[in-house]
Amino acid sequence: MKLFTSLKFALLAAITSVISISAHPDDVSGLYALVKRRMPSHSNAFIFNLSTTASSDVDTFKMRDASHDEGDGNANIYIECTTISACARGLYTYVTEFGGVDIWWTGSRLDQLPYKLPIVNEPITRSAIVPYRYFFNTVTFDYTTAFYTFDDWSLLLDWLALRGVNLPLAWVGYEHILIEVFREVGLNDAEIASFMSGPAFQAWNRFGNIQGSWSGDLPTQWINDQFALQKQIILRMVELGMTPILPSFTGFVPRALHNLYPNASIVNGSQWAGFPSVYTNDSFLEPFDPLFANMQKSLIDKQIAAYGSVSHIYTLDQYNENNPYSGDLGYLQNVTSATFASLRAADPEAIWLMQGWLFYSDETFWTTERVQAYLGGVPGNDSMIILDLYSEAQPQWERLSSYFGKKWVWCELHDFGGNMGFEGNFVNVTAEPLRALTSPGSSMIGMGLTPEGMEGNEIIYDVLLDQAWSPTIIDRTLYVSSWASRRYYVSDLPSSAVNAWEILGATVYSNRDPSSQATLKSILELAPALSGLVRTGFSPTLVFYDTNTTIVPALRMLIQAGYESKSLLNIPEFKYDLVDITRQLLVNRFITLYETLVATYASNSSSSATIATVSQPLLQLLRDLDELLLTNDYFLLGRWIGAARRLSYGNTSYAALLERNARNQITLWGPTGEINDYASKQWGGLVGGYYMSRWETFADYLVETKANGAAYNATAVANAMLEIGEQWNSQTWGLTVGWESVGDSWSVVQALATKYT
Ligand SMILES: *[C@@H]1O[C@H](CO)[C@@H](O)[C@H](O)[C@H]1NC(C)=O
Ligand SMILES: *[C@@H]1O[C@H](CO)[C@@H](O)[C@H](O)[C@H]1NC(C)=O
Ligand SMILES: *[C@@H]1O[C@H](CO)[C@@H](O)[C@H](O)[C@H]1NC(C)=O
Ligand SMILES: *[C@@H]1O[C@H](CO)[C@@H](O)[C@H](O)[C@H]1NC(C)=O
Ligand SMILES: *[C@@H]1O[C@H](CO)[C@@H](O)[C@H](O)[C@H]1NC(C)=O
Ligand SMILES: *[C@@H]1O[C@H](CO)[C@@H](O)[C@H](O)[C@H]1NC(C)=O
Ligand SMILES: *[C@@H]1O[C@H](CO)[C@@H](O)[C@H](O)[C@H]1NC(C)=O
Ligand SMILES: *[C@@H]1O[C@H](CO)[C@@H](O)[C@H](O)[C@H]1NC(C)=O
Ligand SMILES: *[C@@H]1O[C@H](CO)[C@@H](O)[C@H](O)[C@H]1NC(C)=O
Ligand SMILES: *[C@@H]1O[C@H](CO)[C@@H](O)[C@H](O)[C@H]1NC(C)=O
Ligand SMILES: *[C@@H]1O[C@H](CO)[C@@H](O)[C@H](O)[C@H]1NC(C)=O
Repeated sequence: MKLFTSLKFALLAAITSVISISAHPDDVSGLYALVKRRMPSHSNAFIFNLSTTASSDVDTFKMRDASHDEGDGNANIYIECTTISACARGLYTYVTEFGGVDIWWTGSRLDQLPYKLPIVNEPITRSAIVPYRYFFNTVTFDYTTAFYTFDDWSLLLDWLALRGVNLPLAWVGYEHILIEVFREVGLNDAEIASFMSGPAFQAWNRFGNIQGSWSGDLPTQWINDQFALQKQIILRMVELGMTPILPSFTGFVPRALHNLYPNASIVNGSQWAGFPSVYTNDSFLEPFDPLFANMQKSLIDKQIAAYGSVSHIYTLDQYNENNPYSGDLGYLQNVTSATFASLRAADPEAIWLMQGWLFYSDETFWTTERVQAYLGGVPGNDSMIILDLYSEAQPQWERLSSYFGKKWVWCELHDFGGNMGFEGNFVNVTAEPLRALTSPGSSMIGMGLTPEGMEGNEIIYDVLLDQAWSPTIIDRTLYVSSWASRRYYVSDLPSSAVNAWEILGATVYSNRDPSSQATLKSILELAPALSGLVRTGFSPTLVFYDTNTTIVPALRMLIQAGYESKSLLNIPEFKYDLVDITRQLLVNRFITLYETLVATYASNSSSSATIATVSQPLLQLLRDLDELLLTNDYFLLGRWIGAARRLSYGNTSYAALLERNARNQITLWGPTGEINDYASKQWGGLVGGYYMSRWETFADYLVETKANGAAYNATAVANAMLEIGEQWNSQTWGLTVGWESVGDSWSVVQALATKYT
């Protein structure tokens, strides 16, 4: 009997989970679950009321203190809202502005809410300034979330929901359904396998930039596990009031489709990033071929069967860094009109979402009239959403007349390849979206974040999502102060901690230099060479601020704060920031040491012994940096590789494949270094192992050539570096250090701060 009852409950739970995934829940149970998950000791403190009577067309919440007869009588805070997302934002407003705590990429501190909750007093009403708050770049799914478990997703989705995001991309597990569609049209498994890319490279396969895998075929277990993970992700997104943007059929197909359908219109896409054609020039089934519509319908039907009817918004990119077969205006218009027709045939309410990066990156191809023709193939203005992908630095909406009336989202990109240097443009990410929204004829409908990777600089992302709920431009000084206060949440927070952030806010996060519009890379992550390392423009390395008047005083103040309040040292984000700022100090100092080495080598009066001497502090800096990074869990190579390997559940050959993917992405990026060091990281284990051995080899080479009088041979150096890369890529994790942090951040930071300032 007891067994029967629990089985009945389990069945009921299964049925309700299917039902709730197949439609937007009209209840707020997902928010109560979030409160239980993140602040269990306050699980009855909030009342959410999704008020269907409110007639606002923008998301709005009202928050006030609860009265005694509301909820179970113990509730403190009452939040009424027009959408689930608005209630989540209301909860966030309470925990951050009244509770003084927040949830971060590094973890949730919402359980640190005061036991006795502060009162709200005057009721608060707030509205979003845009209907959509968007999140993700297609490539974030590789640079950051490639090896996420559902626990990792759960943290990230709570972070999103609380900040009011209601439109996230949902790419995980796409391949499972795509492969079924490929089989259906007659492709065999070997033909399909030659098309699919490895676990850390799926985004570029989805974009049609690459095909195949240079580190072993995509394992069946990966395909199945990711599909199961996607079901959990979609369910959670919907519960939290978000509309997942689902994949669709793009047209990129295995080469062999041409043999099965010799008359089908299949063309080759362009070569991407210098990859050999076996890995690029993907075959593209042109959308006006009837087979395209059939495959689209099949894919969307299967997707609805798997996830329910949860969304009508589909992501679909055909020409991201991949130029069309023809630039003819009629051709471009035919492509989109047929593509859109295929979406509508499969889902009568389909809306097409695309990343607008191509209009910037291939601006010479994408002239105004070609963009107009391409977008013009889609009827009406409400059938499409374009992500203006890099709005903080290279907005395209003005050049393209607000996308000729089509809807678009103002996006902050900021981070290329998950690089880690400090950078931000506070004015542009606050004032510019408001300017775009209020510009005459604007068809902007959202604000969002499209980072390639998520590696630090969190403040510059937070502020954009906060700006999405503020009709006036956010004041930087006030913002930074309250941000730092809730990040460190101790009652006796020394003013020096806030001042440290005010300095960063006014300098590295107020970058006005148009030649450095993204996170900085450090030259120590690049393959050593005598020239070409210090650069501006895309993926810049030239430091645009004076380290001595920015990083140095900020670090000193943070250290002082650590002395004044010992409780700060128990706060994970405080320790993270100490390590992060010290990291930035060291990598900036590296440039001077490198320039000294190069100048010494160039000088006719220097000897091999002098070269050896000046290379010592450079190599020592790498050792120091590695020691620093190894003290914190968030700066470990082992965290990335470990996350990859853990997905294999002990299958050693699968673990090795995952590891090859993890290693290759952050180093060679391609079978032979096609975009070498693009996704480089400053991680403990990587700096002391990989980068160290490159710089040692380089220093030895300089000493040797100086000694024997041989001319510097740039090709030989580049080849040697590539060889080190290939060797490192073929290793399997066996080190005893780097899985877990070692050493004490606080003492290492103080020693290095003294040494390098
Ligand atoms: C929810 O809000 C509506 C509209 O303001 C109100 O009529 C209703 O009583 C509220 N429900 C609860 C449970 O507070
Ligand atoms: C392809 O087209 C040619 C010429 O129109 C025709 O003879 C042939 O039967 C077609 N092949 C297929 C597989 O449809
Ligand atoms: C596409 O590329 C393949 C493989 O390199 C080649 O065999 C084929 O001829 C190309 N197709 C077209 C239409 O250019
Ligand atoms: C690949 O694309 C490039 C253009 O980007 C083209 O020159 C080359 O011929 C293509 N190769 C194949 C095999 O299609
Ligand atoms: C566009 O499609 C129409 C209708 O199918 C066709 O007549 C026309 O030739 C196509 N134009 C181009 C440039 O491909
Ligand atoms: C800020 O935005 C403006 C307007 O789009 C742009 O011209 C400028 O280059 C941006 N500044 C930086 C540093 O990216
Ligand atoms: C779309 O927007 C443009 C620009 O505002 C406008 O000229 C056009 O009439 C709109 N189209 C439709 C179908 O509403
Ligand atoms: C910055 O400080 C370092 C270390 O004190 C010093 O060597 C360097 O000259 C200073 N640089 C500038 C630009 O002031
Ligand atoms: C070093 O010597 C070479 C050849 O003797 C000469 O071309 C070069 O200008 C000299 N460099 C310096 C920095 O004196
Ligand atoms: C282990 O993984 C490999 C590679 O994906 C796979 O071929 C093999 O079947 C797996 N072995 C087991 C026992 O699952
Ligand atoms: C430079 O090194 C490359 C690769 O080792 C070699 O092929 C080339 O001959 C060298 N050039 C000179 C001038 O020695």
